[in-house]
Amino acid sequence: MSKEALSLVVLLSGSGSNLQAIIDATADGLPAKIAAVISNRDDAYGLERAAKSGIETRVLHHKPYPNRETYDQALIELIDGFQPDLIILAGFMRILSPLFVQHYQGRLLNIHPSLLPKHKGLHTHQRALEAGDTVHGASVHFVTEELDGGSVVLQAQVAVEANDTEERLAARVLKQEHIIYPQVIGWFADGRIAIINHQLEMDGKPLNTPVIVHPL
Ligand code: GRF
Repeated sequence: MSKEALSLVVLLSGSGSNLQAIIDATADGLPAKIAAVISNRDDAYGLERAAKSGIETRVLHHKPYPNRETYDQALIELIDGFQPDLIILAGFMRILSPLFVQHYQGRLLNIHPSLLPKHKGLHTHQRALEAGDTVHGASVHFVTEELDGGSVVLQAQVAVEANDTEERLAARVLKQEHIIYPQVIGWFADGRIAIINHQLEMDGKPLNTPVIVHPL
């Protein structure tokens, strides 16, 4: 039985290495199709990656909009024009309004470079090093109104090494991000994960602690 591919819209502001991992995974059989890549910055390298793969791109600058809500409303209209099943935040460097998050409740995913709930916000690798963490990593989570909150589906753990720098640690974490993001999208496509009445479920049962890959 052939099933229709899940339609994705990816939002990004930068390099788009996670986008690339998702593009590569779709070529490798992930049952998803990227309908469009949207950026708030026209210099985001992710837009070039998308164009190279024949994916539609759009840029929506925030400057012409008087506030966050009017920008987010325009963004919703742009996204919904592509009728996606799932919205993927892949390094989209904007805080999203409750209006936006509520509109996509249960179909908005983000990847964050830490083992949430640790190190929400920016500079996560530096903070993990400063905190003396021996284990660091990345998390894929559904987005709620709380910044870097929301139910975590999957985490990848990465060992912190004695001579680690921010750059070295970031690179190892990013490599894991490229594995776990397509994995979670695949679970969503297969109907294995869903938010039901604000509760994350996996295979029809509540999932209250994330699945962890590469446990140490
Ligand atoms: C990643 O570190 C991701 O965890 C964070 O933003 C970065 C995006 O990197 N949300 P890239 O643009 O996918 O290379």
